[in-house]
Amino acid sequence: MQHLLSTEQMGRSEAESLLDDADGFLEVLDRPIPKVPALRGRTVATLFFEPSTRTRMSFERAAKALSADTLSFSPSGSSVSKGESLKDTVLTVQAMGADLAVVRHKAVGAPWRVAEWAQMRVVNGGDGAHQHPTQALLDALTIRRSLGGLDGLRIGIIGDIRYSRVARSNCFLFPTLGADVTLIAPPTLLPVDTEGWPVRHSSDLDAEIGSLDVVYLLRVQTERGGASVFPSLSEYVRRYGLTQRRFGMLKDEAVVLHPGPMNRGVEVSDVVADDPRCLVLDQVANGVAVRMAVLFRLLGGTSG
Ligand code: NCD
Repeated sequence: MQHLLSTEQMGRSEAESLLDDADGFLEVLDRPIPKVPALRGRTVATLFFEPSTRTRMSFERAAKALSADTLSFSPSGSSVSKGESLKDTVLTVQAMGADLAVVRHKAVGAPWRVAEWAQMRVVNGGDGAHQHPTQALLDALTIRRSLGGLDGLRIGIIGDIRYSRVARSNCFLFPTLGADVTLIAPPTLLPVDTEGWPVRHSSDLDAEIGSLDVVYLLRVQTERGGASVFPSLSEYVRRYGLTQRRFGMLKDEAVVLHPGPMNRGVEVSDVVADDPRCLVLDQVANGVAVRMAVLFRLLGGTSG
């Protein structure tokens, strides 16, 4: 593996071996000194042209736990505000000695361009509404650790599919790992181009919810136009929100995932968000281990 840009072409054995490595790194993270020397001397740069809390910190934590050095960039306060191009920014970071760049950008395809321009390894940290592969891997790890595997599971991905890079990454990875995925959304929040996606569709959450093993909630992407396509937020909550009433309709062993940031009171009620069957904080913790596995795979080195 040279870069990690998308889950679309990822095979089952490649995904499973990354998840197996991540299981091992979770043990490392549980040690009194949660650090191994595997990537000593390597430098990981996080180039985030869009806001992030979890993804950026998670990659930095993962790099440091592997003893790599980190370089961090954000557009405000950088020369991008003076008009510097993406290409010049990337080549500048490479000239400082970065071996790998994690790129988040609002433009679809930006990480692919970076991979063409630079000699660095590239990880897609989210490009527009297109792909966010490490999110999908950490979601798969969370489901596997909680329910034992994805084979035969019924997973509902609910909400703003149209503008969600998380949905686009999960729609491919979950079926690759054996799950049966249903996209549940108002027709206006379904993408027009789902032909060829290995998933089913529904617009009736109440009809589907009782058969789901995993409820995967998405945030309405207001910054990409997501809220403009339904009448009101209260209408959205009424039809698609995971309210306490709907939570009560779930199977006993079903779990709830959300990539964060959560809009409490919109896609998920406050009480459900804090329920132990809502695995958002497990997702965050597992995300560090998944990113360690990805960095280690791309930058090599010997395991410590
Ligand atoms: C997501 C993103 O930025 O794509 N957040 C994340 O990385 N955990 C989802 C979102 O913003 O809704």
